[in-house]
Amino acid sequence: MSYDISAVRADFPILSREVYKRPLVYLDNSATTQKPRQVVDAMTEEYYNVNANVHRGVHFLSQQATELHEQSRETVRRFLNARSSSEIIFTRGTTESINLVASCFAKGCMQAGDEVIVSELEHHSNIVSWQLQEARQGIKLRVIPITDDGELRLDEYEKLFNEHTRIVSIAHVSNVMGTVNPVEEVIRIAHEHGVPVLVDGAQSTPHFEVDVQRLDCDFFAFSGHKIYGPTGVGVLYGKEEWLEKLPPYMGGGEMIKNVSFERTTFNELPFKFEAGTPDYVATTGLARALDYVTTLGMDNIFQHEQALTRYALEQMQEIEGMRFIGNPKHRDAVISFLVGDIHHLDMGTLLDRLGIAVRTGHHCAEPLMHRMGVQGTVRASFGLYNTMEEVDILVAGIKRVAQMF
Ligand code: ALA
Repeated sequence: MSYDISAVRADFPILSREVYKRPLVYLDNSATTQKPRQVVDAMTEEYYNVNANVHRGVHFLSQQATELHEQSRETVRRFLNARSSSEIIFTRGTTESINLVASCFAKGCMQAGDEVIVSELEHHSNIVSWQLQEARQGIKLRVIPITDDGELRLDEYEKLFNEHTRIVSIAHVSNVMGTVNPVEEVIRIAHEHGVPVLVDGAQSTPHFEVDVQRLDCDFFAFSGHKIYGPTGVGVLYGKEEWLEKLPPYMGGGEMIKNVSFERTTFNELPFKFEAGTPDYVATTGLARALDYVTTLGMDNIFQHEQALTRYALEQMQEIEGMRFIGNPKHRDAVISFLVGDIHHLDMGTLLDRLGIAVRTGHHCAEPLMHRMGVQGTVRASFGLYNTMEEVDILVAGIKRVAQMF
């Protein structure tokens, strides 16, 4: 192990609690992650000692809060290796980031009949936000099919481009199967057609290093709560040239330069997209979470989680009736499965009674469920604090449930 897992776990108070008189085994990290003291303490400290609205006051506290908030933006910029902090927009999360791009891009850069390319393995947030534009603006969705193993069909992807293609919007990592999509290739091909790409990084940023300049993506979205930070805060990265082209998303304070009933002008980046009071305490929490994973080392986290995932797959495939949903070559720390004809909800409920938290259902990816021919799956997803012992508990738990049927 590349880092001290006991010390890491000690940073997360919730991990030492019990459920049903059993130690909690938290394997629902793709839904949300637990928070280290460093994050919660920083937020408490800000509420107790700094709290004031940002960007608005001449007074001491407001200036201090503003400084913290803008330092957090700089922390995010460094984390993603964006060129400039004006390319970092704070949102409420990945969903809002994608909706922002879908709404503003459709309004500013698309006409009826234009097309957006998504894939069959997307989360609903990267389908429905475009479908809303389909209804409003008459744009069309084109869908990259996937293989039975749950990987993108790049050969089919290339064929989707035509003179109406305006944007590609794609998950970095599948929240269901853990498939790590070849986004570099997806982006390269899109750029050959002069088409920008939005990458949904909700499930990649917590697990491995992301460099938006190296990827050369045009937009990138992620959530705070999936990377050990607070809920209700997320990020949209956008290349300056694209963000300049997009019209504002929401109207309100902060996003304007001058307002009159005759003519309103808008603020510069990134504020043009940040109407209203931002969750400046959450941005501090997010920055501390990014500091936390950076200090541990994204490569160490990756190695640790990959070892857990490999071990889990090895152990789980020995279980009679085990069926993995998706078998991607490049898999992140996510395993979806079914056992025999045990309903996913039964498996999840009974594992819960053993103290094991997994997610069950369609995981906000119904089109993917249809493609894989299932109604739902059981999903175990690992985080930086999970242990091999917890994998053993999961495997023993699945066996025990299977015996009951
Ligand atoms: N998108 C989150 C998940 O996959 C909620 O569980």
